[in-house]
Amino acid sequence: MKNLNIGMIGYKFMGKAHTQAWARAGQVFSIDARPILHTVCGKTRGAVEAFASRWGWNHTSLDWREVVDHPEIDVIDICVPQYLHFDIALAALQAGKHVFCEKPLTLTVDQAHILSEEAQSRPELVHYVNHNYRRLPAVGLAKQMIDQGKVGRIYHWRGAYLQDWIIDPQFPLTWHLRKETSGMGPQGDLNSHSVDLARFLVGDITAVTCMAANFITQRPLPDEAASGTFSGTRDESGAVGEVSVEDAAFMLARFDNGALGSFETSRFAAGRKNYNSFEIYGSRGSLMFNFERMNELEFYSMDDPPEERGFKTILVTESEHPYMSGWWPPGHGIGYEHTFVHAAADFINAVVRGESIKPDFHDGLQIQRILEAGLESASRGREIKL
Ligand SMILES: NC(=O)c1ccc[n+]([C@@H]2O[C@H](COP(=O)([O-])OP(=O)(O)OC[C@H]3O[C@@H](n4cnc5c(N)ncnc54)[C@H](O)[C@@H]3O)[C@@H](O)[C@H]2O)c1
Repeated sequence: MKNLNIGMIGYKFMGKAHTQAWARAGQVFSIDARPILHTVCGKTRGAVEAFASRWGWNHTSLDWREVVDHPEIDVIDICVPQYLHFDIALAALQAGKHVFCEKPLTLTVDQAHILSEEAQSRPELVHYVNHNYRRLPAVGLAKQMIDQGKVGRIYHWRGAYLQDWIIDPQFPLTWHLRKETSGMGPQGDLNSHSVDLARFLVGDITAVTCMAANFITQRPLPDEAASGTFSGTRDESGAVGEVSVEDAAFMLARFDNGALGSFETSRFAAGRKNYNSFEIYGSRGSLMFNFERMNELEFYSMDDPPEERGFKTILVTESEHPYMSGWWPPGHGIGYEHTFVHAAADFINAVVRGESIKPDFHDGLQIQRILEAGLESASRGREIKL
């Protein structure tokens, strides 16, 4: 079996999730090549070496360009904040590498457009944006049921992606809260996932109107080395800086098939930890999903006799459910990390078979357009057509 050498840039939250995905994909699924943990790249020698030794990477680097240019590396895996995605992904494509990139694809539509064109000009390369929630068994089942007509004509998408990890005003100004490093607040961080799910399950979006809010405008500066997603340590100086992204965004959307949708996102929703949820209402039934109960999908069918109608909970753990055949016996649920294993397995197969995998950089561009249009609508106070 062919080996595929992976070069991963960044090794904190997503770096851990991706490492275990590359390591496990071939154990759980029959895939067409063996991913090799070739090189991991970070900013601090001691920390990246400690990570490599604990998580099984063969080599380390402190320079992502060296990794991208390494002749033995086949796949560049981007697990760094979004302000670095564009330069790394562009250099990787130009170096002839397949690219597995975290979301959102870039800081801006202009950057995403350039990446999409570069990818278009290199059809031999696989490019993927990691909207991993598409590869949840419950979401896969929802897609199957929609495609089988069980929901009928879709009238409404109602998405809410809510968290609470920056609700403390003393949580520091990590990279997520500065426009130059994150591009957007939860509109980019969280609604990018919701928009991807909505495009996957309902269809493309043609117009948006949005309101955004900032609740905390200044925060203490972070100790960068000790901070990351969901964990912030304040810098000893006590200095503060300006929050330059929105704290919450509530967006309404019109789909090309006529459906109307709403997308709520905030990192100020006390008690909501990773509440990535959606409701889909159609002419024959409805679906509801909430990631905090990720092994379940709720379904209401108009085809049931009126006296028996009601939402039923489907436990999505049968081997017939999408991606479940490789895992455990029925009733033995899976977790967050498994979505990354599913994405890694599909990505490896796409590389070996010369196929594409969704969502790709063209989807990443379209998602970026929708998200940016949402924030433009919030600042102009009017609907934006796409
Ligand atoms: N798919 C998901 O559900 C999901 C979840 C969380 C984060 N993300 C995305 O993943 C990306 C990374 O987020 P995270 O939560 O892992 O962030 P993090 O802050 O936990 O880790 C960032 C990593 O980037 C490294 N890094 C920063 N600058 C670097 C440089 N110049 N060279 C090499 N390494 C550098 C840091 O050392 C660190 O290892 C972001 O784009 C984020 O939006 C996706």
